[in-house]
Amino acid sequence: MATMPPTSIAFSAIVFMLLFTATATQANGSVSGKPKATDLIVEACKNASDYWLNITEAFCLSTLQSDNRSAKAKNLLDLVLVSIDIFKGHVTKVGVDVKKMLQNAKKGTIMMHALRFCVVDYETVLSTLNICEAIIREYQAEKGGMKSSNMPQCVDLAKHTLNECLSELADMPWAKALIKENEELRMLVYLNTNLLAPYNVRD
Ligand SMILES: *[C@@H]1O[C@H](CO)[C@@H](O)[C@H](O)[C@H]1NC(C)=O
Ligand SMILES: *[C@@H]1O[C@H](CO)[C@@H](O)[C@H](O)[C@H]1NC(C)=O
Ligand SMILES: *[C@@H]1O[C@H](CO)[C@@H](O)[C@H](O)[C@H]1NC(C)=O
Ligand SMILES: *[C@@H]1O[C@H](CO)[C@@H](O)[C@H](O)[C@H]1NC(C)=O
Repeated sequence: MATMPPTSIAFSAIVFMLLFTATATQANGSVSGKPKATDLIVEACKNASDYWLNITEAFCLSTLQSDNRSAKAKNLLDLVLVSIDIFKGHVTKVGVDVKKMLQNAKKGTIMMHALRFCVVDYETVLSTLNICEAIIREYQAEKGGMKSSNMPQCVDLAKHTLNECLSELADMPWAKALIKENEELRMLVYLNTNLLAPYNVRD
């Protein structure tokens, strides 16, 4: 009858414990596939929350954790770049919905005109955000030389353009779903604005 030498049993136990620890750590690191909230994310979301605008810490965390790149961010501006990209993704998605509605809209109606304005607004928002991203990257590359306030100002431009679409749609009974989507976009743009607040200095 072959019995395991005691050292081998001890070794197996250690391997088992190591495997167990590794599994436990992994489970801790990412809950249900979501990237974990790093200290940077938690702190940035604490700073960015604004209950008046409904930008809660929970909204900030769930938005940033919806993208794997957030956990890799080394500083606040890295995080803002991810947040802007998340926003761009949503704008693009809503833009596709609007174009679909436009195909079915009757020619010459207020609805058609409102939708066409919104298409232009989204395109402008996306172009503006590309400029904002460039400004942030340039600021990161060349500290000191640039005015930091250009970054929040740029995101504010996107916010104003987005609000124009909302004002086109205001009170339109057919636009309820679209208004809701635009209000969600507005929350995301507020989040970007709030994340950039530390750079919003008068200079
Ligand atoms: C997660 O990790 C922390 C410390 O690293 C530990 O205190 C906690 O018990 C862990 N939680 C789970 C669910 O494994
Ligand atoms: C959060 O705010 C504090 C106080 O204004 C500031 O010192 C800190 O750098 C901010 N952190 C982030 C990640 O924005
Ligand atoms: C915040 O959310 C509440 C409840 O969902 C809503 O009534 C209120 O209008 C929102 N405020 C803003 C500024 O969006
Ligand atoms: C995040 O990364 C993990 C591992 O790299 C991957 O399995 C998962 O699908 C990614 N999640 C998203 C939302 O991209």
